[in-house]
Amino acid sequence: MNNPKIKIDVVILAAGLGTRMKSSKPKVLHELLGKPMVEYILDAVKDICTDPPVIVVGNQADLVKQTLGDKARFVLQEPQLGTADAVKSAREMLKGKSDVVLVANSDFPLIASNTYRELVEKHLASKSVMTISTVVEENPRGFGRIVRDAKGRICRIVEEKAASLDELKITELNSNPYCFQADWLWDALDKVEKSAVGEYYLTDLVEIAYQQDALVEAREITDKEEAIGINTRIHLAEALRILQNRINQFWMLEGVTMIDPQRVYIEKDVIIGRDTVLYPDVYLNGSTRIGEACEIGPSVILDDTEIGDFVKIKFAVLEKAILENHVDMGPFGHLRKGAHLAEHVHMGNFGEVKNSYLGKGTKMGHFSYLGDAQIGENVNIGAGTITCNFDGENKFKTEIADDVFIGSDTMLVAPLKIGKGAKTGAGAVVTHDVEPDSVVVGVPAKPMKKNNKARKEVE
Ligand code: UD1
Ligand code: CA
Repeated sequence: MNNPKIKIDVVILAAGLGTRMKSSKPKVLHELLGKPMVEYILDAVKDICTDPPVIVVGNQADLVKQTLGDKARFVLQEPQLGTADAVKSAREMLKGKSDVVLVANSDFPLIASNTYRELVEKHLASKSVMTISTVVEENPRGFGRIVRDAKGRICRIVEEKAASLDELKITELNSNPYCFQADWLWDALDKVEKSAVGEYYLTDLVEIAYQQDALVEAREITDKEEAIGINTRIHLAEALRILQNRINQFWMLEGVTMIDPQRVYIEKDVIIGRDTVLYPDVYLNGSTRIGEACEIGPSVILDDTEIGDFVKIKFAVLEKAILENHVDMGPFGHLRKGAHLAEHVHMGNFGEVKNSYLGKGTKMGHFSYLGDAQIGENVNIGAGTITCNFDGENKFKTEIADDVFIGSDTMLVAPLKIGKGAKTGAGAVVTHDVEPDSVVVGVPAKPMKKNNKARKEVE
């Protein structure tokens, strides 16, 4: 924050059951574009607090802690007696440690970091004991209603369950986060009384402040999309769509074409070069990076994959792979961890590559598997070629030098080295190293006499 002398602690309420998700997983761990929703909040408040945020956990506390690790501090709320009780669970850890306490619900993943920041700024400027975040909406989504007195001062928040018919018509709604003067908060929490449903409501602090004639301020969240709280899977899908739109619009403005943006899913840390075209049903995940002028899709999943410029990929799944410039892949292929295709490699039609390097210009057109292989430049991998890299216990390496021609349906029984310019005949089962420029055929494969030419592969 602007004033380094002001110490701010953040408390994230995440102990609730999330009953309406109808899930065996805690609500805060439900994911949006590959990340649990609570992590969006952690990211958004990152620069506001000096110490890690405190997450109030209860429902499946261990799983939440395990998932988030050292990204946060944790306090346990057991049993869960409402939002005021939840904040109280953090009192012992935080009392006397900070000037301002920012409280956020864990089910609002779309609130932007500026919204948190501006709330704190408004709070500090106004000298209020409590600054709340409101949203004005016709659709109340079950939110608490802001009740104002004749002078327009906020006097209380009424929860939907307890609201009168007139109060239900109020369109000024209680969203979150909340900002508190820390000393005031820790004292006032003891004054909250049990509600009719047996819970202690954080929102009752508004009325407590009003009765003390202490100032309560409000900051309106004008971007209504931010104020979407997630209680059901319908809300989760709405949030996903909003997030997806934000990310896709960003990349379109950066020069990426999307044929149908609603069918492209890009995680937050992905990077894409300009003039790249994304076709429908593309998922770009994790640390994936794509260069310029590529054509990706339809139907491509890229996990933590690095792609150069002018690359084309259709109907494929790539995991932790590297593709250099001008690689052409698909239709249909699977690259697994450690697959590295150098410039101008072509791979398609039901191929799989794992932990292997394919040198510049190498072609692997049809129904092949390469695992634990080092392949040189301009190699032709005939249809149906398999590296038999696993003997049931250990994995072995296959090395193929430049300009080798592997005939259709060759079995390369590793460990194996094939010399530069060598050829294997169709259906060969190669069990021993092959000399450069030689030709091997048969089962098991044996060298052919020098003047006997191997049949040229027909593609
Ligand atoms: C709360 C507000 C409501 C507001 C709405 C959306 C209260 C009493 N009401 O209602 O005015 O419009 O959020 O901002 O606060 N939690 C705990 N421990 C508990 C209960 C809840 O940690 O004992 C956590 C939940 O995990 C959740 C957050 O607190 O992240 C809010 O609780 P929830 O039950 O979702 O409150 P709402 O009914 O949505
Ligand atoms: Ca809620």
